[in-house]
Amino acid sequence: MSSSTYKTKQSSIKELLIAKDFGKEIVVKGWVRFFRSNRFVILNDGSTINNIQAVIDLDKVSADQTKGISVGACLSISGKLMESSGSGQAVEIQVTSFEILGEADPEKYPLQPKKHSLEFLREIGHLRPRTNTFSAILRLRHAMTFAIHKFYNDRGFFNVHTPIITGSDCEGAGEMFRVTTLDPKNPPLKEDGSVDYKQDFFGKETNLTVSGQLNGELAAMALGKIYTFGPTFRAENSNTTRHLAEFWMIEPEVAFNEITENMDLAEDFIKYLIAYALENNMDDLEFLKQRLIDEEKDKPKEQRSEMDLIEKLRFVLNNKFERITYTEAIDILKNSKPHKAGKFQFPIGEWGFDMQSEHEKYLVEKHFKKPVIVTNYPAAIKAFYMKQNDDGKTVAAMDVLVPGIGEIIGGSQREDNYDKLIEAIKRFNIPEKDIWWYLDTRRFGSAPHAGFGLGFERLMLFISGMSNIRDVIPFPRAPKTAEF
Ligand code: 4AD
Ligand code: MG
Repeated sequence: MSSSTYKTKQSSIKELLIAKDFGKEIVVKGWVRFFRSNRFVILNDGSTINNIQAVIDLDKVSADQTKGISVGACLSISGKLMESSGSGQAVEIQVTSFEILGEADPEKYPLQPKKHSLEFLREIGHLRPRTNTFSAILRLRHAMTFAIHKFYNDRGFFNVHTPIITGSDCEGAGEMFRVTTLDPKNPPLKEDGSVDYKQDFFGKETNLTVSGQLNGELAAMALGKIYTFGPTFRAENSNTTRHLAEFWMIEPEVAFNEITENMDLAEDFIKYLIAYALENNMDDLEFLKQRLIDEEKDKPKEQRSEMDLIEKLRFVLNNKFERITYTEAIDILKNSKPHKAGKFQFPIGEWGFDMQSEHEKYLVEKHFKKPVIVTNYPAAIKAFYMKQNDDGKTVAAMDVLVPGIGEIIGGSQREDNYDKLIEAIKRFNIPEKDIWWYLDTRRFGSAPHAGFGLGFERLMLFISGMSNIRDVIPFPRAPKTAEF
């Protein structure tokens, strides 16, 4: 039974456009997108990408009263909902009164009703949510967040909150942000001159987490099926369109799953999210589709997408992901045209070499033309926790690669054998004292299990068709970028 008492005094534009309750007295509040002929106000309140037009009766309102109305100003409008006589919109508001809640000096307000470049909008990150592109992305981010929780909840998974401050390095990449309260100018030193972290806040060296996985595994060894959804941090100095220093990751971890079930879960998960967006966010997707078409108009034909955004999403939804091993991937690459013509920036090395994003893109965009799951990577280029295969040289890793992006998911079956895990951490030079608690799960009631991490912003790139990861998170954190 619903007992909600929360009601706003105003209607949302989304409701008004759907309900078409003509003749009704309504109040809307929002920001002016256009203002024409001193009487037509085009308003947006963020509830939908669609605007509503409000028409001021100039017989009742003096020009003086409308002086403060300009693009970007915030208005509260009372009026009657009417069937629109103008083309392009079905509904409009006949204004009975309005109040300017906040003016926006037209000389100074940086957003104008014209196309601004994404680069420029990054410089005004505090105002870009007021553009169609970014409000569409923010609504989509919300929808995807909700769909992620729904997907796992409906399948009996439990959401676990893993710590953001950690003393361990899950991925072993060592590119972490230190968390300390020591005075950088005068830190306590040990006898050998190194910093004495025993005197730091936590009594040890701590960092922002790169992944919730290790803690997630602890919970999976009790609850069976869990997932995390939290911020993760990586201090890799890679100024690419695919990397952020702060990004969000969804990490399911499932007891008794092996690598094939892990792949099935990953494929189902991505397809569910696409289907959810197509079902619930069509207005925003249509807008983003058109944005991409406009953006690609200036490009040479061979660089334009073969499918539009919505066709691409439908295509991925309706086709099975290709599944290949690392060894097969390397063979394909060695026999590829760009390899033979010396066109790859990074030449394909011998077996054991770490694929670069240009190689992953070749596999998904040119060779298979659909998402690909690559498994069984060489142990040496993957993390210590991955299940060692019987061949003695590969691990049960899986990367999901998608067109336009490359890697969107990384995961594996986990090494559940205590002796093999100990051997691996020695090989990777990981001190046992740092992860004794993780090792304990293999000593007490160990079980086969598997999981993966989906980069939320990589998913958002894929769903929105945007090309720079800084444009799919409200306030990006990247090298030399932490404004707003
Ligand atoms: O492949 P990664 O490093 O895997 C892990 O962290 C595992 N612990 C996950 C697990 O098995 N539970 O990262 C997972 C995903 C990548 O596939 C990518 O989508 C995203 O996280 N990712 C980034 N996204 C944005 N910026 C970065 N710097 C990213 N690094 C990884
Ligand atoms: Mg990875």
